[in-house]
Amino acid sequence: MLPLKAMGKQQYILVTGGAGYIGSHTVVELKAAGFIPVIADDFRNANRIVLNGLTELINEEPLLHEVDVCNSTDMRELFEKYPFVGVIHFAAYKAVGESVLDPLKYYHNNIQGLVNVLDLALEFSVLNVVFSSSCTVYGEPEGVKVVNEDSPKSKPNSPYGNTKAIGEQILADVFKSNPELKIMNLRYFNPVGAHPSALIGEFPIGKPNNLLPFVTQTGIGKQQELTVFGNDYPTIDGTCVRDYIHVVDLAKAHVKAINFLSSKEDGVIEAVNVGTGNGTSILEVINIFEEVAGKSLNWKFGPRRPGDVIEIYADASKANRLLEWQAEYTISDAVEHAWKWEQTIVDYE
Ligand code: WQD
Repeated sequence: MLPLKAMGKQQYILVTGGAGYIGSHTVVELKAAGFIPVIADDFRNANRIVLNGLTELINEEPLLHEVDVCNSTDMRELFEKYPFVGVIHFAAYKAVGESVLDPLKYYHNNIQGLVNVLDLALEFSVLNVVFSSSCTVYGEPEGVKVVNEDSPKSKPNSPYGNTKAIGEQILADVFKSNPELKIMNLRYFNPVGAHPSALIGEFPIGKPNNLLPFVTQTGIGKQQELTVFGNDYPTIDGTCVRDYIHVVDLAKAHVKAINFLSSKEDGVIEAVNVGTGNGTSILEVINIFEEVAGKSLNWKFGPRRPGDVIEIYADASKANRLLEWQAEYTISDAVEHAWKWEQTIVDYE
């Protein structure tokens, strides 16, 4: 597979939401692979502190434009300024619980942002498009724990999940009318961890919704106690099971996706699961944390959380076959890096 950089031209890649958790780690991997990432982010869901760590990791100030992807005038200026060869679209709200409380915030931003980016990509013939999708498009898999890309999909459990399913449908429809497009829907499982350098990581805004940041914040004393939502599920130990994928492995999958699309002469549209292929329960995550941190965690059982899927993890064989990608870090590596990161940002606001 000929990597894009080997083609000689300056390979600018637009990374919307590139100052965010997954976006920032992807910027690092794009740079390491010889691309020129251009960040479009208005910091509504990102912390500017990330720029310090990014600068150190890529050995220069990142190309950054503080723009709202829903503002097509500002976004157009980017496409006029840079000869993008690809776009990776991360910019979207992503909190499942919040999306239930404020669905229009999610439909407006997540759908309008994608439509804007697609409009401009077509106008400027930026044909390589990677979309940040999610395993939530599978909804509650009927009786299966391991899902592949052709697994039956039930209605996603939240407006957030709906915006990802609708996003994939929009891309499929646009591909039908523009078959020259080359599209990759990356369906993330549960992104966790931080860069091993502890120079970049996740900055949850307010109380974390997700498990691992809540665990590490409880470990450091920012949160009093972790509540494990439900202990009577039909799983290995009664708690929910997820496929926790290290954010650096996830970032590398995006580089592989860009290279895959760019190596194609003709149009293509694919969906690919990005997960480890292993399931881990909440109690197992807690045990790993206590082992890594060398301290016990303050936690208790609580009631089930509405909308939770019982058990889901990836059949990641298509990513391996198509993208020559597989996860290299384990859940223990992710917990170790997340804990190191939590101790690093203990003094940040
Ligand atoms: C995991 C498990 C909780 C917090 C996430 C993202 C979503 C998507 C898929 C990318 C569940 C339990 C959590 C806590 C707990 N990713 N939990 N106590 O719900 O699988 O969804 O991955 O698109 O965007 O939100 O992840 O980390 O919220 O929950 O017991 O304080 O941990 O009930 O079983 P989830 P999560």
